[in-house]
Amino acid sequence: MYNDHCLKPINLLEYEQLATEHLSQMVLDYYSSGAGDEITLRDNRAAFARIKLRPRMLIDVSDRNLTTKVLGQVLRLPVLIAPMAFQCLAHPQGEVATALAASGAGAGMVLSTMSTKSIEEVATASHPNSEAPRWFQLYIHKDRGLTRALVERACAAGYTALCLTVDAPVLGRRERDKRNQFTLPPDLQLANLTSVAELNIPDQQGESGLFTYFAQQIDPTVTWRDLEWLQSLCPLPLVVKGILRGDDAARAVEYGAKAIIVSNHGGRQLDGAIATLDALTEVVEAVNGRAEVILDGGIRRGVDILKALALGAKAVLLGRPVLWGLAVGGEAGVAHVIELLRDELDVAMALSGCASIDDIDSSLVKRG
Ligand code: FNR
Ligand code: LAC
Repeated sequence: MYNDHCLKPINLLEYEQLATEHLSQMVLDYYSSGAGDEITLRDNRAAFARIKLRPRMLIDVSDRNLTTKVLGQVLRLPVLIAPMAFQCLAHPQGEVATALAASGAGAGMVLSTMSTKSIEEVATASHPNSEAPRWFQLYIHKDRGLTRALVERACAAGYTALCLTVDAPVLGRRERDKRNQFTLPPDLQLANLTSVAELNIPDQQGESGLFTYFAQQIDPTVTWRDLEWLQSLCPLPLVVKGILRGDDAARAVEYGAKAIIVSNHGGRQLDGAIATLDALTEVVEAVNGRAEVILDGGIRRGVDILKALALGAKAVLLGRPVLWGLAVGGEAGVAHVIELLRDELDVAMALSGCASIDDIDSSLVKRG
C-alpha cells in the first residue's frame, strides 16, 4: 500500500500528498475542490490557526479517555466520518471499506445519499462487537416518493440518525469539475438511486455531471416545513447539516433537530461563506444546550478537534483525509488516518491538562 520510494505517512497532510499518486486528475479535482476561488476552503483551515490554546498544567493525565457520546450513541473518539459521495472512485471497496475502518476504530460514519455502495451493503459492513453509530445523510429529491423510500431504507437497515444536508439546494460551482466535465466511470453508479439517473455520460452543456444531476433531481423548494414531513416518515433523530448562523440553528431546534452540524460543505458550496470554526460560538450560544452541536471543515490535526470541542462542539466530522486514506490503502488506509488523528488528540489532551473529553472546556481557548 505504500510505495517503495515513499515512507508511510505520519500525519493527515502527508496522506493527501501520497493520495495524489493513486488518483486520476478528475477524481483528485472532484475530491479536493472548493467552490469558486476556494476562499472558504482555505479559511476553514486558517480559522484553526487563529485560535490559541491556554493549556492547564500539573494535572494527572496518566489515564486518558477519549470516549464520548453523541445522541446517546458511544464514540471511542469524538469523530464521525463525514458523508462523502462516490467513495468507490478512491478504492473498489469504497464506502464499505470506510465503514469497516470506522467501526474498527469506534468512530461514527455518515453515509451519503450519493454513495457508490448501497445503504444495505454499508449497514452490514461492521467489525464484530462494534457499536459505532452509523447515520444516513439525505438529499431531498424532487421525487418525494423516492426520497421517502431512501429514508425508509435507512431506517429499516438500522441507521441510527437521519442527517439532512441543507446547504445544497443547488450544487456549488466547482470550476475544476466543470473543466473536467466530471462524470462517473462506466463501472460505477449511484448505488441507492439506480432507477433515477446515470452519471456516466459527459454532460451535454459542458457542465460537471454532478452539477446537472443536482439541477435536475434535487429539490430546491425545501423549507423548514419539510423537517416536519421528514420526521413523520421515520422515528430516527434528525440531524441538520450545513448551518452557519445562530438564528438558523435555533430554528432547526424548534423544528425538532436533535443535533446541528456547523458546516459549509468543506468550502464546496457558497464561496465566501464564513469558516466553520468562526461560526461555531454563535451556533452554540443560540442552541443553548437544546441540541448537540457538531463541526466539520478543515479538521486535519488532533489539536483541531481539541479547539472545536473547547468552543462547544460535541464531536467533529472528518472529510477529505478519509478519501486520501481510502485511496492509499482501502480500509487499512482509513483506519490509519483515524489512528493518527486519535493519537494526536490524545497527546494534545495530555499537554493541555485534559484526561477526558469532559475536561475540554472553553477556558482552554483564547479568543480574539
Ligand atoms: C462532500 N460533502 C458532502 N456532504 C454531504 O452532506 N453529502 C455528500 O454527499 C457530500 N459529498 C462530498 C464529497 C466530497 C468529495 C467531499 C470532499 C465532501 C461534504 C462533507 O460532508 C463535509 O462537510 C466536508 O468534506 C468537511 O470538510 P473537510 O473535512 O473535507 O475539510
Ligand atoms: C459534493 C456533494 C455530492 O459535495 O455533496 O460533491
